[in-house]
Amino acid sequence: MEVTLREMRDSDLPVLWAQLSDERAQHMAAVTRGYHYDRAAFDRHWGKVRSDPAVIVRTVLAGGEVAGHAAVFGPPGEREVTYWVDRVYWGRGVATATLAALLGLEHTRPLHAHAAADNSGSIRVLEKCGFTITGRGRVFARARGEEIDEVALTLS
Ligand SMILES: CC(C)(COP(=O)(O)OP(=O)(O)OC[C@H]1O[C@@H](n2cnc3c(N)ncnc32)[C@H](O)[C@@H]1OP(=O)(O)O)[C@@H](O)C(=O)NCCC(=O)NCCS
Repeated sequence: MEVTLREMRDSDLPVLWAQLSDERAQHMAAVTRGYHYDRAAFDRHWGKVRSDPAVIVRTVLAGGEVAGHAAVFGPPGEREVTYWVDRVYWGRGVATATLAALLGLEHTRPLHAHAAADNSGSIRVLEKCGFTITGRGRVFARARGEEIDEVALTLS
C-alpha cells in the first residue's frame, strides 16, 4: 500500500477527529489528552500545532485516503515523534512507512518517543525505524484511568 505524507488540510480534520476518538486506539495509545475527547479542544489543539513553526505535522495518506497523522514536536534536545493510524489500516505497514517518511523530514538526532509498555505494535514500529528502548517509567494513562508502565525510546 502506497503511503505518503502531505501538509494537513482543514478538510482532513473531521476524519482525524474520528480516528482520535476511536476508543480502541485510545486504549492502545493510553496517554490521551483533552483533545481526544472534546471537539472544541481538538480544534484548538490542531489550530495551535499547525501554526507552530517548531512542529512538523503531516496527514498520512494510504492508497490516497486519509489514514492518520504524524508529527515531530518539542524543543531542541527533546524532539519527539508521534503518529496515529486509523484502525482499518492496522497491520499493513502504514505506521512503519509513516515513521520512515517522517524521519526523512526531521534530521535532528537524538529523537525521542514514548509508548505504553504493552503497545507492542508501536514499539515494533519504532524499533523497525532504528529506535531503541532507553528508559522505563510510570505515567498516568487517561484512556485507562490509571497509571501504567511506559517505555522511552531514542533514535541516536
Ligand atoms: C500502533 C500503530 C501506530 C501501529 O500501526 P500499524 O500501521 O498497524 O503498524 P505496522 O503495520 O507498520 O506494523 C509494524 C510492526 O508492528 C507489528 N504490529 C502492529 N500492530 C501490532 C499489535 N497490535 N500487536 C503486535 N504487533 C503489532 C506488525 O506486525 C509489524 O511488525 P512486523 O513487520 O515485524 O510484522 C497503530 O495501531 C495505531 O495508530 N494505534 C493507535 C494509536 C497509537 O497507539 N499510536 C502510537 C502511540 S505511541
